[in-house]
Amino acid sequence: MTTPAPHELIPRRLASKKVGGRIVYYPSVGSTMDAARVAAELGAHDGTAVTADEQTRGRGRLGRSWITPPDSSIALSVIVRPAMPDLPKVSLAGSLAVVRAIRRVTGVEASIKWPNDVLLGGRKVAGVLVESSVIGDALQSAVLGIGVNVNLETEAFPEISPTATSVHKHARGHVPRRELLAALLEELDDLYRSMTEGSFPIEEWRERLETIGREVRVRSAEAMEEGVAEAVNSQGALLLRRDDGSLIEVLAGEVTLRV
Ligand code: BTN
Repeated sequence: MTTPAPHELIPRRLASKKVGGRIVYYPSVGSTMDAARVAAELGAHDGTAVTADEQTRGRGRLGRSWITPPDSSIALSVIVRPAMPDLPKVSLAGSLAVVRAIRRVTGVEASIKWPNDVLLGGRKVAGVLVESSVIGDALQSAVLGIGVNVNLETEAFPEISPTATSVHKHARGHVPRRELLAALLEELDDLYRSMTEGSFPIEEWRERLETIGREVRVRSAEAMEEGVAEAVNSQGALLLRRDDGSLIEVLAGEVTLRV
């Protein structure tokens, strides 16, 4: 069920923009990822944004759930159809757009934990999830999902309270979600355009990474690897120097610091 704007959460339609040129809003939905995927299959325009006040079955990476109670968060999924080689950059655009939007609206500087968790004060404030639909070698569409804890009282959720935070705890109190969502859509639009023009600001993303140079453990779907996070390549993959001196490329996973 959709209700028409205006609503507290909905910025004005970002006229002439690709990302946010069309915005679909749900007061409550299972997951904006599913709503966006269905819209993409029905031919929704590139850049269509699906957002919700509440998600009842929000999901994160690695099979985790993502908490989105009402009045607290940004839950956003954007339909994109990049060229296949640009697909890895879509998630980088997600985390960098969150960093830029938080800075614009609150003046607070966030960092990125590889691959794409956004952190404030060492705790996770936002996460990025990309799901793509590929037939043969052809990318049909991808959905870029972004969840931001904006005014979320994380203590109320024991499953995330030790590791999560919310933007309002680092800014001066309550943060206007509408303004943050509008800034996020504008930054995504800017980054999506630079991606398609071949000028994605990978250095700006790298500078935000707090993982480089650290001793880490990386859990991916296939294996657990340990070593020093030496660098990231132009696609955002992590270059990990193992203890035996070999260098491996890790495309996705979960990093923890090795102690
Ligand atoms: C992660 O860090 O694990 C990724 C979290 C992604 C959460 C967002 S909220 C909007 C969209 N809908 C979902 O169900 N998930 C993503």
